Amino acid sequence: MSLRLGDIAPNFQASTTEGNIDLYEYLGDGWGVLFSHPADYTPVCTTELGRTALLKEEFAKRNVKVLAVSVDPLEKHEGWKNDINETQQCSVDFPLIADENKTVAGLYDMIHPNASETFTVRSLFIIGPDKKLKLSITYPASTGRNFNEVLRVIDSLQLTAKYSVATPANWQHGEDVIVVPAVSTEDAIKKFEKGVNVIKPYLRYTPQPNID
Ligand code: BEZ
Repeated sequence: MSLRLGDIAPNFQASTTEGNIDLYEYLGDGWGVLFSHPADYTPVCTTELGRTALLKEEFAKRNVKVLAVSVDPLEKHEGWKNDINETQQCSVDFPLIADENKTVAGLYDMIHPNASETFTVRSLFIIGPDKKLKLSITYPASTGRNFNEVLRVIDSLQLTAKYSVATPANWQHGEDVIVVPAVSTEDAIKKFEKGVNVIKPYLRYTPQPNID
């Protein structure tokens, strides 16, 4: 059965380019991004993994560890990693999981038989410190994901986990956010010191609370 938001992210042990890992141990108390790609030595995947490596500091700043997975073997991952580093001017140092027996692909429903019987699609899961799934997206093989969008969602998830706010369409870190419907306007005015802008009784904005 497919995984849904709020479900516990299944734990697993896997062989990776960074050694054998246990997902939960690897993530510790932090956040995780687990993403699959169809196959090694493919062009779109090469750019995706390169982009992820180049964003290393952005993920680290947010206390997020990343792991990539495909059903190719470890030796193939190692060779391909060199190509990624060379062509994308990066240094991939996050684990590439060699999921030859499709354990991870099965647990996370990453093979969609009507797209491909054998290869994983471009699934991406964000896992919270409580090990619950906070986001899942699925892209086809032909479309590379936008990793700036992944960071944007992480910013929203981390903010809304702490404050009674939600983030509007196209929100970027630093922009005003929305007061959640469960908070009355009277309470919102007390809660959000920077002020509340009431457009409609159900549409109230406040400056992002966790920045100066
Ligand atoms: C790619 O990563 O470039 C790719 C993989 C499978 C099908 C199409 C593109």
